[in-house]
Amino acid sequence: MKIIIINGPNLNLLGKREPEIYGTATFEDYFISLQEKFTAVELTYFQSNIEGELIDILHEVGFEYDGAILNAAAYTHTSVGIGDAVKGINTPVVEVHISNVHAREDFRQTSFIAPNAKGVIAGFGLKSYELAIQSFL
Ligand code: DQA
Repeated sequence: MKIIIINGPNLNLLGKREPEIYGTATFEDYFISLQEKFTAVELTYFQSNIEGELIDILHEVGFEYDGAILNAAAYTHTSVGIGDAVKGINTPVVEVHISNVHAREDFRQTSFIAPNAKGVIAGFGLKSYELAIQSFL
């Protein structure tokens, strides 16, 4: 089974960025622990701060992979283009957030991804990604 984790803008700063919200672990370290835990899954990781690159990677994997786990970060709340990309591909997408966006600012209550996603997991810290993998198994 092939699953890709796609992280959007500012998530390259995990470990340093607002640790009270996003924790102190880097995603690279966490990704290694996921690979060790889910040895039967071929896991790939992609991160970009650029909206078009997130759309490009969705197009690239979206007719081949068994699942995509997408944390589009701030673009979740603004990007019609990423929402359309999720709608346009065959690969099921699970929307993930580290923080509980529903307990945060009003502008985080909108998601252009969710209407086209298989499901949404938010608020469990980095464990949200693990739960998303489990949802595909
Ligand atoms: C986030 C929540 C978004 O609102 C925010 O812009 C992020 C991270 C999360 O994982 O909690 O950058 O997607």
